[in-house]
Amino acid sequence: MDKIIIEGGRRLAGEVQISGAKNAALPILISSLLADGPNTYYNVPDLQDIESTKLLLSNLGGQIEAEADRVHIDTSGLNTYEAPYDVVRKMRASILVLGPLVARLKKARVSLPGGCAIGARPINLHLKGLAALGARIDLAHGYVEASVDELRGTEIYFDVVTVTGTENLMMAAVLAKGTTILRNAAREPEIVALSEVLNSMGADIRGAGTAVITINGVSELKPASYRIIPDRIEAGTFLVAAALTGGNIAVQGAEPDHLGAVIDKLRLTGAEISVDEKVINIQGANDISSVNIQTQPYPGFPTDMQAQFMVLMSIASGTSVISETIFENRYIHVSELRRMGADIIISGNTATVKGVAKLSAAPVMATDLRASASLILAGLVAEGRTEVHRVYHLDRGYQAIEKKFAGLGASIQRVK
Ligand code: EPU
Repeated sequence: MDKIIIEGGRRLAGEVQISGAKNAALPILISSLLADGPNTYYNVPDLQDIESTKLLLSNLGGQIEAEADRVHIDTSGLNTYEAPYDVVRKMRASILVLGPLVARLKKARVSLPGGCAIGARPINLHLKGLAALGARIDLAHGYVEASVDELRGTEIYFDVVTVTGTENLMMAAVLAKGTTILRNAAREPEIVALSEVLNSMGADIRGAGTAVITINGVSELKPASYRIIPDRIEAGTFLVAAALTGGNIAVQGAEPDHLGAVIDKLRLTGAEISVDEKVINIQGANDISSVNIQTQPYPGFPTDMQAQFMVLMSIASGTSVISETIFENRYIHVSELRRMGADIIISGNTATVKGVAKLSAAPVMATDLRASASLILAGLVAEGRTEVHRVYHLDRGYQAIEKKFAGLGASIQRVK
């Protein structure tokens, strides 16, 4: 199995190009299920989760061709309504086929995703919403079975803000009869991106990006062509890397507006940040100040940046209090960071991080994508040689991460 080896201690410098957003690309590629004919998506990142999505769609009968960052998907040959366990267990986001399959075929059978390293991650709100739209839902043998004669628009209130729950129900409601109103909907940029694709297919969705989304159902959709938005979490990860190493980098092809909370917190650590359209320039501070963070749904500080930010706080002057309010178990990186010398105490959903003068390299591994990214960051600044194992977690969500860091002057390589 691959591992990544890092000799820490280099200041990062130069330019890095941001890839398309994983969490925008997944629902958008899946939205191809909603129309007959060829869809074309640009700026699709080269990631394991994208490969899983292609497999999922081709299992359902989709024809897929990819060249560089362009992906063509034609689901005219849609011939099954089942997403099997073997595919769903590799990628939880496979649950996103549920809404489109019920909308298009009136039937779906999708393996239940189950929990994962960061929490229980139930899908009760996806199911409750589909039931409110008129679907019969049964759970049997580890699968969700949903069927409907006709989806009917209704009002749906989310108890908890859910990103893929909002996306799933948007994709079901676009072909429902009548109007659906989603209240307490997620406001992430990925939701706005999905609504743009669906509207370009002929859907009538208003209010995406706010907590109330109104969807007037239409009878059919046509294929789309869409450029995937930049990955805000990848961009944020490079910004933190610069801050951590006292580096000076330009993060190119990003969408600064999507990174407000992260940029704000980085400035409070002493980093100097300037924004020029799609380029974010950062100069890390020599003396990093501690700041507190609390993860929140967008536009709050993203849970997907919590682990990376914790590494920065682990070498800051002073003590930082980090609260994780989205996932109950998203501190799996902490024990590995402690092995590298970090001083972190966990109590419930709060981590108290007392900055230390330096981290020391160690062999480490993590069982989640963002936790693994945080270990790469720790390796960049630690004294000595860090080996990060279980690299396949990184490959799910970061395109060529070691090449991009090497391009910024890091001493980093992948070993087969
Ligand atoms: N929740 C419920 N019931 C539901 C759905 C969610 O209780 O039916 C709870 C979850 O347990 C969690 C909270 O609601 O406590 C928020 O979860 P959400 O549904 O928003 O998460 P998700 O849609 O499964 C997406 C991203 C995650 C990201 C979260 C939060 C995708 C494919 N995944 O997951 O990304 O952390 O939103 O922003 O969009 C990652 O990229 O590393 C990643 C984990």
